[in-house]
Amino acid sequence: WPFFAPYVKAINDLKKVRNAVILAHNYQTPEIYNCVADVVGDSFQLAREAARVDADVIIQGGVHFMAETSKILSPEKTVLIPDARAGCSLASSITGEDIRLLRSKYPGVPVVVYVNTSAEVKAEADICCTSSNAVEVVESLGTDRVLFLPDQYLADWVATQTKVKIIKWHGACEVHERFTGEELRRYRADDPSVVIIAHPECPQDVIKEADFSGSTAKMADFVKTKRPKRVVMVTECSMADNIMAEAPDVEFVRPCNLCPHMKRITLPKILDSLVYMTDEVVVDPIVAAKARRSVERMVNLKI
Ligand code: 13P
Ligand code: SF4
Repeated sequence: WPFFAPYVKAINDLKKVRNAVILAHNYQTPEIYNCVADVVGDSFQLAREAARVDADVIIQGGVHFMAETSKILSPEKTVLIPDARAGCSLASSITGEDIRLLRSKYPGVPVVVYVNTSAEVKAEADICCTSSNAVEVVESLGTDRVLFLPDQYLADWVATQTKVKIIKWHGACEVHERFTGEELRRYRADDPSVVIIAHPECPQDVIKEADFSGSTAKMADFVKTKRPKRVVMVTECSMADNIMAEAPDVEFVRPCNLCPHMKRITLPKILDSLVYMTDEVVVDPIVAAKARRSVERMVNLKI
């Protein structure tokens, strides 16, 4: 804390000067999440807030596709990311050209893309989804088949929740694909009363061992409302750190895989971002207009 304190003060002071807000994902480290963020949440909540917040500048505490989504929804604002190299294995698994090829292979089949994609990919889609609304988005299209891209594991999970036929891609989250059903069975063998909650970006053998699966916001709600005595959080490490403060009576068991992209964002880099107004996220206005249709269609769905 003594190391963080001067950064926290400088960031919070400079935010006022710049009329800036910090939107931070649930995977940001506790000092960002608790001390400098103005809005925290899952990918859906951050996208919704990006369109609403009253500020001149958005600092994205998260990865590049999240900052692009903010720019797409708030083109008049300056959107900064403290480290432009903060990528995502899902976003880098598919291109706009891949979507155009898939459309020619499956004519007339609607394309749902996860928000964990580039602006170029969103621009080629019919609608976006996040892990908090993927099933509802798929069913809103009223077709018997959809292309669901790029996360193969989220696609497998959606397929278990709907009658719509899911055509998938081979993308994966490098953090969640590392968990195994075997390690979860060991936690259960050690303590049969333990509650396991897993993110739907995990492989199916992991989800099958879990008592609950949902987006990071839904996982946080589960812990805060159900108050399990011991819980295994099968997701990125910082999630448990961040919820712990709000659920001090819950014991967290953490298999803990780190997202190296999320961890590129630090307090010193956020401060630099505010001082030098870097790195600015720019999206081609034609691409942004097309991508906005896909994101807004999701945000405006009544679910
Ligand atoms: P959600 O917070 O929307 O569940 O997404 C998880 C994730 O991996 C974001 O990169
Ligand atoms: Fe991408 Fe996975 Fe990291 Fe989220 S946790 S940013 S999906 S690599």
